[in-house]
Amino acid sequence: MTTIERSVGAGVRRLDGPDKVRGRAPYAYEHELDAQAVFVAIVQSPVARGRITAIDGSGAQAVPGVLAVLTHVDAPRLGEVVEELRVLQSDAVQYAGQPVAVVVAETSEVARDAVGRVRVEYESGDPDVVLSADRDDLYAPEKLMAGFETDSVIGDVDAALAEAPVSVDVVYETPNQHNNPIEMHATVARWDGDVLRMWDANQGPHNLVPVITEAFGITEDQLHITSPYVGGAFGSKAFTHVHQLLAIMAAKVTGRTAKLELTRQQMFSLVGHRTPTIQRLRLGARPDGTLTAISHEVVEHTSQNAEFAEQTATATRLMYAAPARRTTHRLARLDVPAPTIMRAPGEAPGMYALESAMDELAAALGMDPVQLRLRNEPDRDPERDVPWSTRNLVACLTEGAERFGWAGRDHRPGVREEGRWLVGTGVAAATYPTRRRPSQARIEAVPGKPFVVSIDASDIGTGAWTTLTQIAADALRVPMDQVVLRIGDSRLPKASGAGGSTGITSWGPAVVDAAEQLRDRDVPAGGLTVTGSSGPGDEAEQLSSHAFGAHFAEVRVDRDTGEVRVPRMTGVFAAGRIINPVTARSQFLGGMTMGLSMALHEEAVLDTRRGHYANHDLAEYHIAANADVGEVDIAWVDEVDEAHNPLGAKGIGEIGIVGSAAAIGNAYWHATGRRVRDLPITPDKWF
Ligand code: MOS
Repeated sequence: MTTIERSVGAGVRRLDGPDKVRGRAPYAYEHELDAQAVFVAIVQSPVARGRITAIDGSGAQAVPGVLAVLTHVDAPRLGEVVEELRVLQSDAVQYAGQPVAVVVAETSEVARDAVGRVRVEYESGDPDVVLSADRDDLYAPEKLMAGFETDSVIGDVDAALAEAPVSVDVVYETPNQHNNPIEMHATVARWDGDVLRMWDANQGPHNLVPVITEAFGITEDQLHITSPYVGGAFGSKAFTHVHQLLAIMAAKVTGRTAKLELTRQQMFSLVGHRTPTIQRLRLGARPDGTLTAISHEVVEHTSQNAEFAEQTATATRLMYAAPARRTTHRLARLDVPAPTIMRAPGEAPGMYALESAMDELAAALGMDPVQLRLRNEPDRDPERDVPWSTRNLVACLTEGAERFGWAGRDHRPGVREEGRWLVGTGVAAATYPTRRRPSQARIEAVPGKPFVVSIDASDIGTGAWTTLTQIAADALRVPMDQVVLRIGDSRLPKASGAGGSTGITSWGPAVVDAAEQLRDRDVPAGGLTVTGSSGPGDEAEQLSSHAFGAHFAEVRVDRDTGEVRVPRMTGVFAAGRIINPVTARSQFLGGMTMGLSMALHEEAVLDTRRGHYANHDLAEYHIAANADVGEVDIAWVDEVDEAHNPLGAKGIGEIGIVGSAAAIGNAYWHATGRRVRDLPITPDKWF
């Protein structure tokens, strides 16, 4: 008998790393290099609302190498798809940057050049793109994303606020933010007879199947999508967007392999963004810090062609108890591209506001902000009145305080100077829901050969190639080199996409289920194939399951220039069993960095006259670079939560960003004595 090393919990380096650095892990656009491909370039509307009154592709068509120009007049008709995907189906223009034609050419250079030769005339109106809390057309969506209730009310909030001995009433604003994975969205599409073959950048091939089969009137058997390696996504590759449909149309019309890669600038209008928010927070407390009232009212935007209602205040429903609580969400329907999910959609902006308000309340109380949170730790989910599966926020706060050196902090703001630098520290809590989704996995066993484990999971840079191999190896009781993993292919067993921090919690149990069916079975000489599955049970009804965390940050502000630096951050998380400490640390680090970026840099500015995003590239839409990130200390508490899955894991992709912007904003106040309540905290706000 060979001794099997336990793989789960080991700091295994990325299995796909060597292939990535050797150029052997192709992204979508790098497939079919030998094909006689055609290239697709998009003509975009410069107006944000209106109608196409005339369109003429003949100038583009006349360019040598151009094969086709598709417009709403002659593009293939799509089947039943949601409004935001009805690309080239009518003369209506609903946002700046909307595709109004595509050029298909022998080379990408010719296609892009010919874009400028398509003549389009518009009848246009003034765009309505400014979000404000006093618009008279704000409306309550029926439900929020993921099925959350729009509002929640418990007790008499206004009376409780009026009676509270200590209270805060503040408004925070967060801007339009854009998912900017380093790999641009790309699709390669070809029709092999009536079978549609695609190589595509996405967060799970099966996510695309229902929309594409419906749009082109084909069956699941007629669609094959391959996506083994994806260069980041953050939510922008979770759903089907119009570029995929355009590439498929181009392939259909030309009968060739069609390649379409969005430019970085096009990503700002064609693959979604995080809605801006305006959030009014009112907290009431007794002098000892016990919360008596919590009110969190959110205003956000959606587009003319979609109702995207982000669940901004839902984390507030469970973070702290108070006898009177209210959360509301109101939408303005603007002439903007459809928003989408972006890493911790809802929780990231919502917890920024709640955790900033908690800091303001601590200051009003003259209380340590860590103590304020400990004082308000609920022993059951206050919204649903069910037990937590596990809630280790207290451990995160106390361990974080210890690691960071919080003890003895002088809570007065604006009193520490080191040369030109004003110095402060801040804290904030984090939470993210734990869920699982239906998934299936297959294992093929052949005597004397490695097990082949197949599941249509997706690795968007998270480490899923590695962690799923670890899980499979342990479940099969073999070393990792006895497992060959296959993921990222719609012909593999159907699995949920990489989103909502549900990858490992959904895919892992399906792999374990398959492995358990193989255990104690004799594998015949011809081999044996088993299929496992997993999905949510009724645990979600009986328990409240969430990951928790605590962020600590030190901020320095240059008194003369307003420059903000973050020399160190500490994040401590309670996120269930950590499958791989190396890839997990990267997930937390990436999330915390994205939170720093949200706090200090990221803002897409809408031009109010034209309705387009003015700073639509990486030169002007600022994202934290290495030089912006100081020392980042990351730890997690021992936690195994088997309520949702046999792995005891909770999901770690998103919690790192939640709360980290608040910790930095709170440290900025502690350094300077000034509250900046509209992100990002850029130097101009100092003056
Ligand atoms: Mo994540 S925003 O659920 O892809």
